[in-house]
Amino acid sequence: MTAAVPRLGVNIDHVATIRNARGGPHPDPIRAAQVAAEAGADGITLHVREDRRHVREEDLARLSSAVTLPINLEMACTDEMLAIALAAHPNAVCLVPERREERTTEGGLDVAGLHNTVAPYVIRLREAGIRVSLFIDPHPVQIAVAQAIGAPVVELHTGAYCDAAGRGDLIRAETELRLIREAAVEGTSRGIEVHAGHGITFDTVKPVAAIPEIIELNIGHFLVGEAIFIGLDASVRRMKALMAEARLGPRT
Ligand code: PXP
Repeated sequence: MTAAVPRLGVNIDHVATIRNARGGPHPDPIRAAQVAAEAGADGITLHVREDRRHVREEDLARLSSAVTLPINLEMACTDEMLAIALAAHPNAVCLVPERREERTTEGGLDVAGLHNTVAPYVIRLREAGIRVSLFIDPHPVQIAVAQAIGAPVVELHTGAYCDAAGRGDLIRAETELRLIREAAVEGTSRGIEVHAGHGITFDTVKPVAAIPEIIELNIGHFLVGEAIFIGLDASVRRMKALMAEARLGPRT
């Protein structure tokens, strides 16, 4: 258990979403990564999707030479994505479920149901020296199977908590938060490093960041959206300040 402030992985996907709306080079997600790094991000996260709706493999290649922060590639369990990961060799890969028709990653990877599919990807990536994480719903069975197939890290899906909090359903939000807390304890007790992410905003970050077992948060859509109003630098700095307050208490 640690009192250290969780690391913040800034997801730059939606800078690329805006870029792709016009087909040109602006706004450049790599420039966003550099601004995030200056503002105190601890890592840069990006999701190369099968349909390339936001970042593409060229972005991943450019990112590697543009920032010194650890790079976390989110990807589906496909041979195409495995080849991209092995060629780019990011510091970390987070295996996520992917359906073309979904707007975002709507649920965690069903590691318990798909362990025969997921396990070979965990092995290949680990053999290549890449830290592997599995994006799962906060459920003890998913954690047990993640451990059984050798995943050193899990990222807990915080979407259900954030959605409930966002619509003002505080009872449901508290229930979802309890599941996240219990899963974080369960993961840590099994020797798995626990991360969390999805749907996190300034309003929802503190209860998640306060969970002592969680050592990394990955946040994208809200930070990029908020950047429209206050700038990306301020958006990242404020998120980190809230994470620090949640873990260490308000600054005096
Ligand atoms: N973590 C994972 C594994 C994700 O797939 C995503 C969305 O790409 C995030 C975190 C970030 O979610 P959001 O963009 O809602 O902050």
